[in-house]
Amino acid sequence: MGGFQHRPVMVREVVELLAAVPTGTVVDATVGGGGHARQLLRARPDLRLLGIDRDPAAVAAARVALEPFGDRAQVVHGGFEDVAGIVEQAIEGNVMGILFDLGVSSPQLDLPERGFTYWGDAPLDMRMDSAQVLTAARVVNEYSQEALAEVLAGNGEERFAKSIAARIVAHRPLHTTADLVIAVKEGIPARSRRRGGHPARRTFQAIRMEVNRELPNLAAGLDESVHLVGPGGRVLVLAYHSLEDRAVKERFTQWAGREESQPPGLPVEPTRSHALVRLLTRRPMRPQPDEVAENPRSESARLRAVEKLPSPSGP
Ligand SMILES: C[S@@+](CC[C@H](N)C(=O)[O-])C[C@H]1O[C@@H](n2cnc3c(N)ncnc32)[C@H](O)[C@@H]1O
Repeated sequence: MGGFQHRPVMVREVVELLAAVPTGTVVDATVGGGGHARQLLRARPDLRLLGIDRDPAAVAAARVALEPFGDRAQVVHGGFEDVAGIVEQAIEGNVMGILFDLGVSSPQLDLPERGFTYWGDAPLDMRMDSAQVLTAARVVNEYSQEALAEVLAGNGEERFAKSIAARIVAHRPLHTTADLVIAVKEGIPARSRRRGGHPARRTFQAIRMEVNRELPNLAAGLDESVHLVGPGGRVLVLAYHSLEDRAVKERFTQWAGREESQPPGLPVEPTRSHALVRLLTRRPMRPQPDEVAENPRSESARLRAVEKLPSPSGP
């Protein structure tokens, strides 16, 4: 796989859930290095696969990884927020599965020059798609203090969003990830700095999510995906933090025709006739301890899945 080394997370569980779909095409909306895709194509020789990734380095790596499968697999560069348009252009026939494996890949995190990590010193980039204009440098240097605080609170659930935003503004212009780490540390009271991992973790997550529009893109991609898959087809999402997982859970519950906020104890109204899907995972599946031991990056993973129901008016 050349320089692109990413261990697929919960691959056994993902392949098991996807291997149950009717014959057709599975869309791997975040194909990365092709880890999940390869295992699925091996497990189900009658399936085709369309891989999508917004990172050109991932597209190149996935093409190499999936070459042995010939014309059963194709990989395109694009964003899953446009999954319906990409599918329409790329394939004929039925989509029977869509997989979203969210967040960043190991190569994105591990290559310091991409600016995703608070270890070391690198330009403030954080773009998954290098063709895009918005970078982390523009977010930290050009957003107003209020807008920055909102990004940190909304995307990172950062308690000290306001004071960190103030320190970022005081340090402008910031050039590198190390400049950002210094500003973040100054914005967090010393006693809190020592708790809960690296003090800049939430800020980096929040800025990365802003640069790549991760939550809006996820919402758009999910909304399109439920209409793309045929009856018996499945939508799977691997999320790595609670904001993402919450967005997934809310949508899945809505599609299944049950309101999130229904008070416990009330008789459940049978809303089956409106349900688009059935939930395959009432609670998210988590990685087994042996996987976490081998691959610590899998620890935060939560896997949810739904199966599309036949529409009431037809098959
Ligand atoms: C966790 S990795 C996927 C790894 C992959 N499942 C594998 O087995 O190698 C997430 C990938 O999603 C891509 N990505 C993130 N947001 C995306 C979007 N909106 N559209 C398409 N790809 C996206 C990233 O570039 C990254 O390569």
